[in-house]
Amino acid sequence: MSYRLPAILKLNAANKTEEQEEKINTTQNFIYTGIVLVVLALIWNTYLLVKDTPRENHLMEWLNIVIRVMHFTFGIAWIGASFYFVFLENALNRSENVRDELAGNLWAVHGGGFYYLEKYKVAPKTIPKHLHWFKYEAYFTWLSGFSLLFITYYFNASAILIDKNILDITPFSAISIGIGSFIIGWIIYDLLCKSTLIKRPVLFALTGFALLVAFAYFYTEVFSSRAAYIHFGAMIGSIMVANVFFVIIPSQKAMVKAAKENKPLNPQLGKNALARSIHNNYFTLPVLFVMVSNHFPSTFGYEYPWLTLAIISLGAAGIKHYLNLREKKQQSVWVMPVSVIVLLAACFVSAPPANPNACRSSVSFAEINMIFQSRCVSCHSAKPTDDIYKVAPNGVMYDTPQEIVLKKDLVMQRVVLTKTMPQNNKTNMTEEERDKIRCWIEQGASLK
Ligand code: HEC
Repeated sequence: MSYRLPAILKLNAANKTEEQEEKINTTQNFIYTGIVLVVLALIWNTYLLVKDTPRENHLMEWLNIVIRVMHFTFGIAWIGASFYFVFLENALNRSENVRDELAGNLWAVHGGGFYYLEKYKVAPKTIPKHLHWFKYEAYFTWLSGFSLLFITYYFNASAILIDKNILDITPFSAISIGIGSFIIGWIIYDLLCKSTLIKRPVLFALTGFALLVAFAYFYTEVFSSRAAYIHFGAMIGSIMVANVFFVIIPSQKAMVKAAKENKPLNPQLGKNALARSIHNNYFTLPVLFVMVSNHFPSTFGYEYPWLTLAIISLGAAGIKHYLNLREKKQQSVWVMPVSVIVLLAACFVSAPPANPNACRSSVSFAEINMIFQSRCVSCHSAKPTDDIYKVAPNGVMYDTPQEIVLKKDLVMQRVVLTKTMPQNNKTNMTEEERDKIRCWIEQGASLK
């Protein structure tokens, strides 16, 4: 059996006109959109089929991992390209044998081949027909990230986003605050970039940093600390994508248009785009830290989570600065060591107290078991009674004494040191109970 392709798709590259290419692109976009809609409809139907059955959790975990893998794959492509082009910019040979119309060039060897790249001062005299644009990496990173934010935090807002001990708000207000904060963050940042402050890099960086700390503080006063972390990362990530969408790509489009129409190019367009692209470069490492830290309660399970965020942002941007200086072959003795010390400080300040109260009497297992039964098994059981968790989270169950003893190290970490369990202290565990659990583990976690 054979089926026919539309004639337009069969023309080969050499004899296609611009108009025909446009047509092909539109056809392709329609086909892709159709495929995406069909897939979404299938997923939705499957969800309705398995809803409220034991398979619901199975489906949700698969969806979660698929989107997560997409998110970091697009992220790698985007950040990889971003690092690469900032490296190019930094490492360009700007002096030896550079033609007049060029800003510089670079020889490189990679994957068994030699490459020679040239950067134009503004634009070539004629814009080539095939010009590669880097933008979908950024857009898809953001779209998949936003989907993850919904799946993990917003669909379960009352359980994960909101911590009633921090601020008792409705899921609707919490989600609105979250999304609203991304928009406000972008508006403030964009205004800063358009102000005269941009001409004073040090002052600009300091203001930007103060703004980041303010956001970090705000988030930790509104959300659970884990959600505060992810919102901090998502806010910066959204600024990065908005930089691509609202500034970098439109500037490039305007440049291409002007060049095609033989109109004079406004060099400021290129400069603006480059500045935003460099900001994105500095934002990258703090964002990556935040995304990964969400899986490490020692990072967000600290009394002042905003302080860790502030320190990490500073140190990580410092590391990026050092790498940029090196690529420009500029010597710097202190940037790297200072950045490392700053990063280490985050680990030190968030450390749990070294000398907790001495344990006076020996704690019996009966007492401990009671605490687990009243504070943990509503979620961590073969048959949870919690209103949200219908399956034991992460497969952790405390139905039998052996299960409690086996997981004692994780219990120490989550209940005593980081205090990130019970989740958002939903079951109102007291400090005395945490202390009892600590003493019991320190005394050997026996079943007596
Ligand atoms: C409201 C539901 C809820 C309650 C109550 C609760 N947990 Fe959890 N627990 C979770 C969720 C959700 C996760 C998975 C997300 C995470 O790791 O933060 C989790 C994860 C954990 C983990 C990490 C497992 C891993 O693989 O890393 C441990 C350990 C844990 N809980 C212990 C406890 C203990 C001990 C208690 C009681 C003092 C408790 N939890 C009470 C919901 C709960």
